[in-house]
Amino acid sequence: MVIQWYPGHMAKAKREVSEQLKKVDVVFELVDARIPYSSRNPMIDEVVQHKPRVVILNKKDMANLNELDKWQDHFKAQGYYPVAVDAKHGRSLKKVEQAATEATKEKFEREKEKGLKPRAIRAMIVGIPNVGKSTLINKLAKKSIAKTGNTPGVTKQQQWIKVGKALQLLDTPGILWPKFEDETVGKKLSITGAIKDSIVHLDEVAIFGLNFLIDHDYEGLCNHYNVEVDPDAELLEWFDAIGRRRGLLQKGNEVDYEAVIELIINDVRNAKIGTYTFDIVKEIEGHDE
Ligand code: G4P
Repeated sequence: MVIQWYPGHMAKAKREVSEQLKKVDVVFELVDARIPYSSRNPMIDEVVQHKPRVVILNKKDMANLNELDKWQDHFKAQGYYPVAVDAKHGRSLKKVEQAATEATKEKFEREKEKGLKPRAIRAMIVGIPNVGKSTLINKLAKKSIAKTGNTPGVTKQQQWIKVGKALQLLDTPGILWPKFEDETVGKKLSITGAIKDSIVHLDEVAIFGLNFLIDHDYEGLCNHYNVEVDPDAELLEWFDAIGRRRGLLQKGNEVDYEAVIELIINDVRNAKIGTYTFDIVKEIEGHDE
């Protein structure tokens, strides 16, 4: 799904999501576990305000689990209730209900003290496109219902779906816009597939991916492409070695760089080389939040 975001759309999305949020006890902010910072909507705090928040780090099957633990600590320290899941394969989904119960405990205790009847916890999923909102809703509902369409914000005529014993979830997620301002964030959104028609040039995205791999998984990179390139070599040497090894050549036996760029992006995007988390807590803490 490709959504073009214009200021009018963003304002509408924010308004619609804010309106829907009034109906829920807890917000499920869905992010990509590979980029827990870069895949957040830039105005999420303003949208969610003081509502209890479960931060769901989805696609953990493609992320670095060590770094993911650090991200969970980071979100806990900010007063959120983080859980890491793999919606596609239905892994760790029980934790979502548990976290929602935990996040709303005080509110429900207060309601009980006031003599209100016990009721289900109401929640909705909010996040930027492609983080897995529809996949997660379908898995939690145990059937195929979520169609996000291509309207930013939320679609009308929503229904509650029952999840486990204690939870009711809105069947349509709130769709918010991604961060645009920062070039590195753009490259991370692109290399993970959150933005497919990139606003960033694909060569820069591939270079970002290659540099990340050289720094964080040099051996994995060499093994995957069956190449031997000095870690300090010019990047062009990597492109040449990978292109030649894979036979990605043009007329005159020249390396087809476009094909190599596409190969690297697809391999990183689909976790073919390894599982990585591109946002490093240490680098992000303190400088932007
Ligand atoms: P959205 O509603 O937030 O826009 O996201 P959506 O559920 O459409 O998911 C976007 C892509 O991410 C889909 O892949 C989906 O299968 C994949 N995905 C969602 N959750 C997970 C997860 O936990 N792990 C992994 N590995 N992938 C996940 P797609 O290639 O766009 O579509 P398809 O090939 O699955 O049809």
